[in-house]
Amino acid sequence: MERTPPIDAKAFNAFEAEGWERRVDAYDGFFTPITGRLFGPLLDAVGVVPGTRLLDVATGPGHLPARAAERGAVPVGVDVADAMVTRARELYPTLEFHRGDAEELPFADAEFDAVTANFLLPHLARPERAMAELVRVLAPGGRLALATWDVPSRARLFGFFLEAFSEVGAAPPSDLPAGPDVFRFADDAAFTDLLATAGLRDVEVSPIDFNYEAATFDEYWQALQEGTVRMSSLLHGQSKETRLRIRDALKQKLNEHRAPTDTITLPVAVKLAAGRKLS
Ligand SMILES: C[S@@+](CC[C@H](N)C(=O)[O-])C[C@H]1O[C@@H](n2cnc3c(N)ncnc32)[C@H](O)[C@@H]1O
Repeated sequence: MERTPPIDAKAFNAFEAEGWERRVDAYDGFFTPITGRLFGPLLDAVGVVPGTRLLDVATGPGHLPARAAERGAVPVGVDVADAMVTRARELYPTLEFHRGDAEELPFADAEFDAVTANFLLPHLARPERAMAELVRVLAPGGRLALATWDVPSRARLFGFFLEAFSEVGAAPPSDLPAGPDVFRFADDAAFTDLLATAGLRDVEVSPIDFNYEAATFDEYWQALQEGTVRMSSLLHGQSKETRLRIRDALKQKLNEHRAPTDTITLPVAVKLAAGRKLS
C-alpha cells in the first residue's frame, strides 16, 4: 500500500506563501486568463448585487474584486503574499486589499455578505481550518463560493504535465514539503462535505469545462516552470537533463493538440461549489 507522508502544516503553508511572492508576473500573465473564466460564475453563485460587501480570499492580483466592483459591490481582497497585494493595489488603487492568511483572516465575525475564493484550496495544508474562517466572516444568510481544479484526466492543463513528469521517471524533489492532494476537492462528495461541515446549507457543486488556447508551447512550458508553486517546484528540483526529458515528453503529448499554427489547446476543468450560511 502506498504510504502518504505526514504533512507539516506550518512548513507547507510557509513554502506556499513564500513561493507566491515570486510568482506574480508569470502567474498573472498565463494563468489569469484561465482562472478569470471563473470570476463571473463565482460572482453569480454568491448573488452579488449593488452594495454587496464581498470578501475575495486568495485574491492574487485582485481581478475578481474589480469585476465585483463593476457590478456595484463593495469588495475587499485578501492574500497571503505581499507581492500579490502590492500588484492588486497598483492595478486597482481605488479598491481595498489586505495581506492575510485564509486560516486566520484579519476580519470580524459576520463582516461580509458574500465570500469567494478562486483556487485557494489547492494551496492549503488545512482546508477545513480555512473554511471555518471563511464562514466565520460571512454574515448569516450570506453566500460563499469556491472554485478548484478538477482531476488531471479532465484538467489536462496539468494532466499533460503530470503524465510527462511520471513517464520520464522523474520524482518529486526530496526537500519539497509534503502537502495534501491538490485534486482532493475534485470529488463532489468531498467538496460538498467541506462546505457542509463548515456549517453551510444548500451546497451545490458544478463542473465548468472549457478550452484554453495557449499562444505557443514555450509560453505554456514557461508558465509551468514559473507561474505556480507546487508544479514549478517539481521542475526546479530536477537536473537540467531530466527537465529537458520532461519538456520533450510534454511536447510530444501536445503535438496532437496543436493547430496548423503554433497554438496549443489546453482542456481546463474546474469544480465550483457554493452554499449559504444559515440565517
Ligand atoms: C492560484 S492563485 C489564485 C489567485 C486568484 N484567486 C485568481 O483566481 O487568479 C493562488 C493564490 O492563493 C494565495 N494563497 C496561498 N495560500 C494562501 C493562504 N493561506 N491565505 C491566503 N492566500 C493564499 C497565493 O498567494 C495566490 O495569490
